[in-house]
Order: sequence, then C-alpha cells, then structure tokens
Amino acid sequence: MALPALLQDAMTEPFLFKASARLVDFMRQADEPGLINLAAGIPGLDALPTAALTQALQNAVSKEGSRLFAYHHPEGDHPLRELLADRLRSRGASVRGPELFTTTGCTQGLSVLLSVLVRPGDVVACEAPAYYGLLEILSEAGARILPLAVRDAGGIDLDAAEESLARWRPRCLVVCSSLSNPSGATLSEAARGRLVEICRRLGVRIIEDDIYGELEDGGAPKPLLAFDVGGETVSYVSSFSKSVAPGLRVGVCVPGTLFDQATARKTQQDLHSAVPTEVVLREFLAQGALDPHLAGLRQRNARRRTLALDAVARSFPQGSRVDAPTGGYMLWVRLPQRIDFAQARVLARRENVAFAGGDVFFSEPAAQSCVRLNCAKASEEELVRGIEILGAVLGSLGEASDR
Ligand SMILES: Cc1ncc(COP(=O)(O)O)c(C=O)c1O
Repeated sequence: MALPALLQDAMTEPFLFKASARLVDFMRQADEPGLINLAAGIPGLDALPTAALTQALQNAVSKEGSRLFAYHHPEGDHPLRELLADRLRSRGASVRGPELFTTTGCTQGLSVLLSVLVRPGDVVACEAPAYYGLLEILSEAGARILPLAVRDAGGIDLDAAEESLARWRPRCLVVCSSLSNPSGATLSEAARGRLVEICRRLGVRIIEDDIYGELEDGGAPKPLLAFDVGGETVSYVSSFSKSVAPGLRVGVCVPGTLFDQATARKTQQDLHSAVPTEVVLREFLAQGALDPHLAGLRQRNARRRTLALDAVARSFPQGSRVDAPTGGYMLWVRLPQRIDFAQARVLARRENVAFAGGDVFFSEPAAQSCVRLNCAKASEEELVRGIEILGAVLGSLGEASDR
C-alpha cells in the first residue's frame, strides 16, 4: 500500500528547527477588524459561556472578597485543584489535587516542563506536523527536533515512532493526544496504552498536551496519563482556553515525578497564576456549568465543520483531502500540489482572508501542500466565503505552477 504523502516526505532525523512563524504575529492578527480569520485557533465571542462566567465572577467576588486580589499559593487555588483532579479521575486518571498545579494557560505548562527537561542540543520528539507555539518554544530552547509523522486521523505511526524513539532516545516526546493541532488526529485508546508502554520501556518522558480533549464529540477520552503508573512516564498539561474561555488563561499541569522541579520553575516564572480567573473557573465548575456548555460547543463545532467541509469540497483544488476530525474546529487540508505560501498569503490578504499554511507547523516538504483552517472564529457566512476565496487563490497558484 502506498504511504500517505505526509509520511513519505517526513524527515526522520533530529535537526535544529527555526520556527518560520512567530506566535506574536498570529496573536496580533487575531482581532484585526474586517479580516476573515481562518488562521489563529481562536473561538468566536459567541462561543464563550459569558452568562455562566459572569455568574461565576459574581460568586467569586462575594465569596472571596479581598482574598481575590492577594498573593496566593504557587500551586494555585486548592478547591480548584481538587475539582481539576476530580475531572481527570472521571476520565480514568488517578490524580489527587495536591499532585497538580495551575498554570497560566497550557503554554506555561509546556514551557515549564520543557525548561525542566531540555538543555540546548537535546533531542525532543514531537508530532509532524505540530502546534507552532510548541515549535517556537523548542526552537528557543535549542532542542533538536525528532519529527514523528502523523499517519492519518489516528495520529502518529506507532511502529515508526517506536523505531525512531529507540534509535534516538529523546529527552521527551510532546504529543497532543486528542484532536491534535493542526492535524486533527486523535490517538485511539489502544494506541494510547501502547504509546505509554513504549515510552516507559525506553525511558522517554511523554509530555501530553490535552488542550482539545474536552472538544471530542464523543466526550473526552482517557488521557495518556491514565495509562501511566506512579507518574514516571507521563507529564500532563491542558487548559480551559479551548473548552471554556482563552482569556481566563487558566491551565493545569500534572507533572508526575517532576512535581518538585516543575513547581519550583513555575514559581520562578510568575510566583503563581492570576487568582481572580482561577476562582472564576472554580465557581464555573462548581455550579455545574462545564458540561452543558461543552454540549453546546460540540454542536457548534460540528455544524461549522460540516459547512467548512462542504465549502472545501466545492471550492478547493480537485484532489484536496481532509480527514474529518472527531471533534473540535480545525480542518487540516492536504492539497494535491505544493503551494508558494508567501504568495498565497499575500493574495488571500488582499481579499481579507488569513489562513495558516502548513509551513508554519513543520519545515518538511509535505507541509508545503497543507493548510489548516480554523472554523470557530468567523461567522458561519464568513467562514464559507473565506474558504471559497482561499480555494480560488490556491487553485490559481496551482494552475500557475502546473503550466
Ligand atoms: C496544541 C496547543 N497547545 C497549547 C496551546 C496554547 O494554549 P493556551 O492558550 O492555554 O496557552 C494551543 C493554542 O492554540 C494549542 O493548540
């Protein structure tokens, strides 16, 4: 059977990677007026549970008063930590509140763990393609990246990954276990168990990024963390940026046996995360608002994915392929030809459309023929129009390069 293009072209040796995109530019572009933003992985304002969060904020102020504005514990609000541990336990991971700490977004969890584990020149394995924010942290850390090709909607190819991990023995493997960004891939339950077992045997620490787990249409799966014993192999990070509201900046880290080093590093970085938003999230969870909100969010995302998939089928170059993800709001489209993204970005921007070209998620040749579409931010009408405009731009470039 022929290998998918993404796997054929994947590089298999560690190399120093200079991120081609800057997170700061993506973030600045996020709210540009008039722009149909299919680039940044950001939900629209109407996707946020504003009424329930406002209620939670009122509860927070009336319960905590001035304590909301004082210094706090480095590990975060204790009752919130217990609620976060409950949620993970309901997904099969045996975690207690004192074994986790809160973070300022998932970003801080990733950067704390990587700064504890990685020194310049160390090898770090990650998915190819991978989230550009992660690539930027790794590139700043001077890590040599060992890419593990994402095979299809089921995630990294475990046979190839096992061989590669055994050969290079990286310091750690960073993997987004559900609805990975940008590929949309989700590891099956069997693959989760096998990956943890492979890494346990080889002594490779996994950093599991579970930021999209709660967006799975079928409910959040067992995290990789649930397959670990004694915190020796898996360190877990997530946040509520995708499932509740990114502006809260509340995340969680379960470091396992790295707990002491990770909490010390977190405290060096910012003493503790902001108290008001932690308490708002605690009240939001305590009032039982998360599950009803997630039910609505999953429907919203599914409707938008359907609109976007239809628009891609209608207007993208013939031969474009998308593995429909099992939730979330990103589509990873594989085009039949390589694209000059610098030119495509200029042409799309002229028509007020921004998108993320595959080159920002990895520097391998296959990335040149992929685009990621965020379906969550634009209105539904703009989403469809934006995809049609982009389809026409990509089609015109393909025709030019075919001539
Ligand atoms: C895979 C992944 N990890 C981490 C982050 C950053 O999350 P946060 O906003 O909670 O810092 C993102 C944001 O898009 C992401 O896609």
